[in-house]
Parts: sequence; C-alpha cells; structure tokens
Amino acid sequence: MKYSQMTKSQISAELEKELQKYKEFLDMKLSLNMARGKPGADQLALSEEMYSGIPSPFSEDGTDCRNYGGLDGISEARRLFGTILEAPAENVIVCGNSSLNLMYDAIARAMIYGSYKGATPWIKQDKIKFLCPVPGYDRHFAITESFGIEMINIPMTPEGPDMDMVEKYVQGDPTVKGIWCVPKYSNPDGYTYSDETVRRFANLKPAADDFRIFWDNAYVVHDLYDEGDKLLSIYNEAKKVGNENIFLMFASTSKVTFPGSGISAVVSGKENIDFINSILTVQTIGFDKMNMLRHVEFLKDFDSLKAHMKRHADILRPKFETVLTAFESELSSLPNTHWTSPRGGYFITLYLEKGCASRTFDLCKEAGVTLTNAGAPFPYGKDPDDSVLRIAPTFPPVEELKIAVQVLTCAAKIATLEKMI
Ligand SMILES: Cc1ncc(COP(=O)(O)O)c(C=O)c1O
Repeated sequence: MKYSQMTKSQISAELEKELQKYKEFLDMKLSLNMARGKPGADQLALSEEMYSGIPSPFSEDGTDCRNYGGLDGISEARRLFGTILEAPAENVIVCGNSSLNLMYDAIARAMIYGSYKGATPWIKQDKIKFLCPVPGYDRHFAITESFGIEMINIPMTPEGPDMDMVEKYVQGDPTVKGIWCVPKYSNPDGYTYSDETVRRFANLKPAADDFRIFWDNAYVVHDLYDEGDKLLSIYNEAKKVGNENIFLMFASTSKVTFPGSGISAVVSGKENIDFINSILTVQTIGFDKMNMLRHVEFLKDFDSLKAHMKRHADILRPKFETVLTAFESELSSLPNTHWTSPRGGYFITLYLEKGCASRTFDLCKEAGVTLTNAGAPFPYGKDPDDSVLRIAPTFPPVEELKIAVQVLTCAAKIATLEKMI
C-alpha cells in the first residue's frame, strides 16, 4: 500500500514495524561502507598482469622512459587517450596518477597565471563564479571552495545541466569563469548528456573570454551493459565552430586499472595545450613514463581496453542490480521517493521526501552503515531540500551490500514515516 493512502494509525503501525526491524540491525553491530566510489579488490585483481614488467623501457619513438624528458607523455599513451576521448593525440597531455590533480592544477593555474597566455589571473579579478550542476561531485566543489570561488547551483536533468540557465549565466555574466561537468554517467546521477546538451556547450559564447568548461570525462568507458550510453565528442563539436579552447577535458585510468597508480590526461584545443605545456615546463621534469608504458603494454588498444572494461562491468552489474532491486521492492510505496538507474559509472542517486536525507544518513550511521554524507553532492555540503543521498555500490562484496541496502531502505522508511506523522 502507498504510504500516501495510509491513515494516521496505519502510518504509526508501519513506523513501529520498521523501528523493530531497525533494532534488529542495531543488535547485529554491523560495520559496512557504501560511502566512496572505489573499485573492489576483485576489480583491482583484473589488472594484476601490469606488475609482470615491461619488455623494454623505450617508447615507440625511442624515448628512454627511465630518463628525463617527454613532458607531454609518450606518444602511444597520448594516442590511446586520444582514441578514447575522441581527439587528436597532439591535443592530449598524459600526466601522472589522478585527473583530480589536473583539475586542481587547472584552477590553480587560472588563479595564478590566468586562463590563457596574457589573461588576467582570476585572483586579480574582483569576483570569480563557477556553475555547479547539482547533485554533483563533492571533490569538484571542494576545489572551487578552497580557492574562494563562489558556486552557483544549476539543476541537473537526465539530459544534463539545465542549459537555459547555463547559457543565461555564461553568456550574461562575465564573472562566471567555469562550470563543472561530468558528461557521461554523471556523479552521482549516472546521467549522460544528450547530443543537444553537448552541442549547446560546444557553442557557448561566454561573456568572459577566460571562461572554461571543466569536462570531467571520468566515466567515458565505464559502461555496465553491452549497449552503453553514447556521448557526443565535445572536441569535434567545438572544433566545428572554432571553439575548441572553450573546454578542458579530463580523464584517467583510475577505474580502468588502479586508482592508486593510474595515468591521467588533459585534452583541449591547441592554444590551451600549448599554454598548459608552457607552465608544466616550469612545474615538473615530466610524469611517470614507465607507468605510461606499463599501461599501454597492458591495455594495448581501444578494443582490448573495452574488453577489459566488460570484465569490470561483470563484477559491478550485480552490485548495482542488488541496490536497484531492493529500492524497487522496498521504496516504491514512499511518497516523493525515486532513484536513478544508471547504465554505467559508479553511483546511484536516491531522492527522498524533502527533509529526510540527513535523518536516513544518521540512522544508517548508527546502525554501522556508512553512506556519503547527506549534502555532499552540493556546493558547501548544503542540499537545499535535504533529499539527496549518493549511493556507492562498487566497493562492498554483494553479500555485504545486500545487508547494507536493507539497513538503508529501513532507515529511509523510518525517516519518511516520521515526517508523515
Ligand atoms: C567525476 C569524477 N571525477 C574524478 C574522479 C577522480 O579521478 P582520479 O582518480 O583520476 O583523480 C572521480 C572519482 O570518484 C569522479 O567520480
């Protein structure tokens, strides 16, 4: 029976029943974690072969990868990322572990040196604002917050950010300097931007000439099903209109091989790439080229990378389905409660009745189930409706996940019923 059709006494009885169940969970003294989007141990094992060494320390053009040099990465790694990210290899710089580090550097560079050669550094401008599609990735927001950049919430839709709002801000306000985007299997909704959204981004005519789109393509090859979502290439669309310096695209192999020792890449138009290289020359003698060699040796080409990602998907699919099946059977009767069913990426978003997310989080915590903080997917950690929870089903084994999700659905019911009384 739908909760909305229940009488007051039926609601009280239902709450009593759920509280009883919750007490049993408390007695189990659980310690389960669905907080961060990490690959599980079985996923890490898929890339174990990478330890077995590389036949030669020389890259295809004869660069000795043990030595200095090769600031923008070895050519075979640039080509591989170029194929994955649909851009020419010369527009790719391959860097070290963690694309988040590249995003931080990109913002720091714009703050200190400006967005392009000769631009006024952001730090010397009165006000800097960033658009933040919400819910979004907490670590993006942490970067902009740490630099004192004002963040503006932009609602997400299944097609991507609300583009009318994006265009209004970007084209009307010169203090808006950037936007965070996760265009494929967004964190945390798992939405993929529609072709129209990508085109509208590629065609933006910002009021600020130092505005950049931060296109974090973290889940570009992370499909859960054979037929994955298709994302239009921002490089191609922007190139068509001579706007390829408007975006900085980022990606990494963190969830392809190892989050602790992957390789990452930044892709953009030639002007941006030259500018980044001019600063990198001062910043570093180069990234870990031996690790780039190891990655190309192991991943080989795009086809074999896709086959490797299918092995990840085989591990992840049952985990996503465990959560979605439990939501379907346990949460369908709750008012204003719905969730996303992503076809890739690392997260599911649970939308609860307004005012119920923190209470659900707290109940889970008390019962030993750690979730991502309620509010985390919003700038400054503030969910205006207190209704969103990011669910990360990838790390716990399925058996643990089954229990964790039972606790979660029980907690969500208690929070909602309490609100209804
Ligand atoms: C959208 C998004 N971008 C970036 C990252 C981190 O990437 P990396 O490991 O390359 O720093 C994550 C990790 O969860 C993510 O969800």
